Amino acid sequence: MPFTKPLAAALLLATSLPAIAQSRQETSLTTDWKFTKGDQPNGAKPELNDAKWQTVRIPHDWAITGPFNGNNDAQVVKIEQNGEKEATLKSGRTGGLPFVGVGWYRRQLAVPTLGKGGQAVLLFDGAMSNARVYVNGKEAMFWPYGYNSFSVDITPFLRAKGPNTLAVRLENQPEASRWYPGAGLYRNVHLITTQGAHVPVWGTYLTTPEVSAAAATVKLKTKVEAPAGTTGLTLQTDLRDAAGRVVASATTPVSGAEVEQNFSVKSPKLWSPETPAMYTAESKLLAGKTVQDSYKTPFGIRSFKFEKGKGFSLNGQPRKFKGVCNHHDLGPLGTAINVAALRHQLAILKDMGCDAIRTSHNMPAPELMTLCDEMGFMVMVESFDEWKAPKVKNGYSQYFDQWVEKDLTNMVHRDRNHPSAIMWSIGNEVPDQSSPNGPEIAKRLQDIVHREDPTRPVTMGMDRYGDDFKYGIAAVLDIPGFNYKPHLYPDAITKLPQGFLLGSETASTVSSRGVYKFPAVLAKDKQYSDNQSSSYDLEACRWSQIPDIEFAAQDDLPYALGEFVWTGFDYLGEPTPYDEKWPSHSSYFGIIDLAGQPKDRYYLYRARWNPSQPTVHLLPHWTWPGREGQNTPVFCYTNGASAELFVNGKSQGRQTKAATGATDPQTRYRLEWKDVVYQPGTIKVVAYDAQGKTIGTEEVRTAGAPHHIKLVADHQKLAADSEDLAYITARVEDAQGNLCPDATQQLHFTVSGAGKFRAVGNGDATNLEPFQQPQMHAFQWQLVAIVQAGAAPGAVQVRATATGLKDGALQLNTAK
Ligand code: GAL
Repeated sequence: MPFTKPLAAALLLATSLPAIAQSRQETSLTTDWKFTKGDQPNGAKPELNDAKWQTVRIPHDWAITGPFNGNNDAQVVKIEQNGEKEATLKSGRTGGLPFVGVGWYRRQLAVPTLGKGGQAVLLFDGAMSNARVYVNGKEAMFWPYGYNSFSVDITPFLRAKGPNTLAVRLENQPEASRWYPGAGLYRNVHLITTQGAHVPVWGTYLTTPEVSAAAATVKLKTKVEAPAGTTGLTLQTDLRDAAGRVVASATTPVSGAEVEQNFSVKSPKLWSPETPAMYTAESKLLAGKTVQDSYKTPFGIRSFKFEKGKGFSLNGQPRKFKGVCNHHDLGPLGTAINVAALRHQLAILKDMGCDAIRTSHNMPAPELMTLCDEMGFMVMVESFDEWKAPKVKNGYSQYFDQWVEKDLTNMVHRDRNHPSAIMWSIGNEVPDQSSPNGPEIAKRLQDIVHREDPTRPVTMGMDRYGDDFKYGIAAVLDIPGFNYKPHLYPDAITKLPQGFLLGSETASTVSSRGVYKFPAVLAKDKQYSDNQSSSYDLEACRWSQIPDIEFAAQDDLPYALGEFVWTGFDYLGEPTPYDEKWPSHSSYFGIIDLAGQPKDRYYLYRARWNPSQPTVHLLPHWTWPGREGQNTPVFCYTNGASAELFVNGKSQGRQTKAATGATDPQTRYRLEWKDVVYQPGTIKVVAYDAQGKTIGTEEVRTAGAPHHIKLVADHQKLAADSEDLAYITARVEDAQGNLCPDATQQLHFTVSGAGKFRAVGNGDATNLEPFQQPQMHAFQWQLVAIVQAGAAPGAVQVRATATGLKDGALQLNTAK
C-alpha cells in the first residue's frame, strides 16, 4: 500500500503520561511557557536555566504592554501607494510599540507514549515572526511569515524517556510592516499526537459539488498516513447536522494515500450569513474494529456563483458584499488572539448588517474562520501585502521566491473546508502591478490556489489602475478587485473580460469618535492641531472617498459585486492623515474605534446594510459652550426615507433622501440640516419610511456638569474559562444621564471576585496611556474596560472611580 510517509516506529516514553493513548490527542499549549526578550545564545538548549524568565500564557503579544514611543520602528519612508514624493519620518506607522527584536519562548512538552507509527506534531496557528522551532536543542522548523499557520512533525526530535524541551525563537525586523504586526506566539500552539495510522494536519478536503433545496452531494477527500506495510484500514465517516443527527454515512476501505467518499444529504440546511447552518464530518480510521484515529471536519452546504452580467449569487440569491477589511489586532489586547474578543467584534459588525470580512492583508487566525462559519460572515482570505517588489524595506518580498508556494498552500489547506471562505486574495496593492511580469506572477499564484482549491475564485486588491490594464493583471484574476476606484468602474467594465468587478477596498474615510470640526465640509488629507479628524464623515485621503461615493456606484452599477470598507475597526499603526505627527499611532479609518465603540459612520452603514432594524442616528452631540448663535450642521443617518428635525421644539424642516441619479451622492444617503444655529437644549429627529410612517425618533440634549460614571456591559454572564471577556463601557454622564462630551477625567477600575481587569481603551489615536493599567482618561464622554473571567465560577465586581464623579459599579457572573 503506497503511503506517503513511512513513520519511524519509535517507542517514546514521557515522564508524566505513562499510559499508551489509544488515538488522537490534541492539546493547546497555553500555559507553562517561559519567555524572555532579547537574543539568547543558548536559548534552544534543554539545559538552559530559564527559571528567571517571565511566565506567560499563550497567546501572547510581547509588545502590547508598551510603552509607546515614537522611536519604536520609526520609519523614514516615502509611501509610494499614498502618492508621496519625499521620504519623511513616520513615527507611529507601526503603532509605536516595542515589537522589533528577538523573543524566546520555552516550555516542557508532555508527550504521551507513542506506539508503532505514533506521531507528535506541533501546529502553530501563527508566530510573529521568523519562527525557529527547536525540540531538545535541535531546529525542527523555520517559518518566516508571521501570519501563516504551519505544522512540524517533531517525532524524530523527541527523547524516548523525556523530558522534552520546546523552544521557539522569534525575530521581528524593523521596517518590515505598514501596520502593527504584533510580536511573539500571538496565536495558539497545539500538540497533536496520533498512534499508528492517522489523518495528517489539514488532511481532509470537503466540497459540495451539487447543491439544491432537495439534496446536496458532499465529497470528502481524506489523506491517510500509516506505517509501511499497514493493511486492512477502513475510513468510516458520519455526516452530522448541527443537532448531532447523522444525515449520511460511508465506510470505505483505505487503499492509498487518499480516500474519497461521496455522500448525499437530503433537504440540506443551506449556509448563508443569515442562516449559518453547520454540519460536521466525523471520520474514524479503523484497523478492524480498533480506532486508529478520529478527525472532525466542520463544514457547511452552500453554492455560489460569479457570473458575467449577473454578478454574485449565494444559494441562487443575488447579493452584493457588505464587507469590511480588518487588520488582525484586537485594539487594547494587541494581537494576542482571544475568541471572546473576536466574537465581540463580529457581533458589532453583525448588528451593522455587515456580511463579509476581508482579512487584510494576511491569513487570519483560525478562530476567526470558525466564528465566521458560526456567526455568518463571508470571508475573503487574503495572503500578502507584497510579492517580489517591496513596499517596506524588510517585508515579505525577501521571502517571496522561496516561500510563496508554501505559504499559499498552507493558507488554502487550512481554510478550504470553511463555508465562510468565499474567495482567496493573492495580494494587496502589490507594486508588481506595474511590472511587465506582474500578470505572470499573478497567474502563477492564482494557479497554485486553484490547484489546491478549484472551488473558489481568486481576487486581489489592485490600486494601479492604468498599469492594471497596460500590463494586464486585471484580466488575469477570477475577480478583479479595485481599491478606491468607484469613479472608474464604468471604464473598467468595458475592458474587463470577467464582466464584473469588486470594490476590494473602499472609502478610507477618517474620523475620531465624537469629535466634530467646523465648518463641516468635504476635505482631503485634512489635519487639525489636535491630531483628530471630524466625525461629520466628510474627510478622506487623497486616494480615497467618503462612503456615499462607493454607495452610489454599488447601487447604480449592476456589475459591481459589493464592497469591503477600509476598515471595520480601527487598528494599531497607520495613523493617516497624521502619519508624520506623533503621538498619533493608531488608525482613524475605522467605522468602529480601537476600543470597539461605534463612531457615527457605524450608523451610516447600518442604515444601508441592516434593513431589518430601524436606524435613526443624530450627530453631532449638542454640548457646545461658546458656539451659541453659530452655524452647527446636524446630520441624521437613517434607513427612513425622510425626517424632520426640531431644535428646542422648533421644526428645522423635513429632509428627504434624493433619488437615484442625484449628482451629490450624500443627498441620497444622509439627511443634512446645514443651517442649524446652535442654542443649548435639545435636538430631536423624527424619521419616516417612504409611506410616511414614523420609524423612530432620536433626541440629543445639552449636557450639564459631569456627575457620575455609568457602567454598561456588553453581556453580564461569562464563561468561567480564563478566556471570556466582558466589554464594559464607562460613560461620564451629567445628573440627568446625558453624556458629557468634554469629560476628560481619569477613570480608575477595580475588578474583584471571579474575574480580573484585562485592558482599557478610549479610542483616542493619540493616547499614550498603556492599555494594561486599570486607569485611563475618558475621551469624548466614555471609554471601554475589558474584564476577563477567571477559571472558577462566581460574581465579578467592577467599579469605576474618578475625582469629582460618583462611582459606577456593576456585577458580572461567571459560570462553568
Ligand atoms: C490602501 C491599503 C491599506 C491602507 C489604506 C489606507 O491603499 O491597501 O492597507 O493602507 O490604503 O487608506
